[in-house]
Amino acid sequence: MLIAFEGIDGSGKTTQAKKLYEYLKSKGKEVSLYREPGSTEIGEKIRDILLCHCMDERTELLLFEAARSCLVSEKIIPDLQVGKTVILDRFTLSTLAYQGYGKGIELETIKTLNEFATRGIKPDIVFLLDLPVEEALKRLKNKTRFENKEFLEKVRKGFLKLAKEYNNVVLIDATKDEETVFKEILARLEDLY
Ligand code: TYD
Repeated sequence: MLIAFEGIDGSGKTTQAKKLYEYLKSKGKEVSLYREPGSTEIGEKIRDILLCHCMDERTELLLFEAARSCLVSEKIIPDLQVGKTVILDRFTLSTLAYQGYGKGIELETIKTLNEFATRGIKPDIVFLLDLPVEEALKRLKNKTRFENKEFLEKVRKGFLKLAKEYNNVVLIDATKDEETVFKEILARLEDLY
């Protein structure tokens, strides 16, 4: 079982991904939690490069995909093969939303690279945590280079379009409090488990 959390910065996806990880572990499930970019030695180095340097959007796209390829081959595939549940804090839809809808790279190019990096692996379910950009910005304490209002508006709209395009995406109203959001996630998961 592969579960991905997606959403704009400040949507609470990292909190919810961690809550689900702890919950499933407490139920005795074998479960892993990974973040993108990162969660491998190479991936964390790529993350540092991405977060600390300015670069053109194609270089950035290729670095996100390189980090993803590494995570898929080193962690996700081996975990799935031994029957673990894998929870991802961001996956392929982030690249379509940020580099595609946000930065204007053709979606078809990104889809091809996503397919290449993931070896065609698709999440069983994607929780898209959605909330207005103003609300997300209020929640963010540490501003990073990605957190710009107009940019995040484009990214949010992109995510909402992707939710309509892919039938494994479950849209979650992330304006609600942490516990309410988590209960909704669990309710949606019950059908799959
Ligand atoms: P994230 O780890 O969610 O940020 P933080 O831990 O600081 O909350 O993601 C880091 C940034 O990378 C985030 O702004 C979104 C961006 N990103 C992309 O632009 N494309 C991608 O493919 C991925 C995975 C992330």
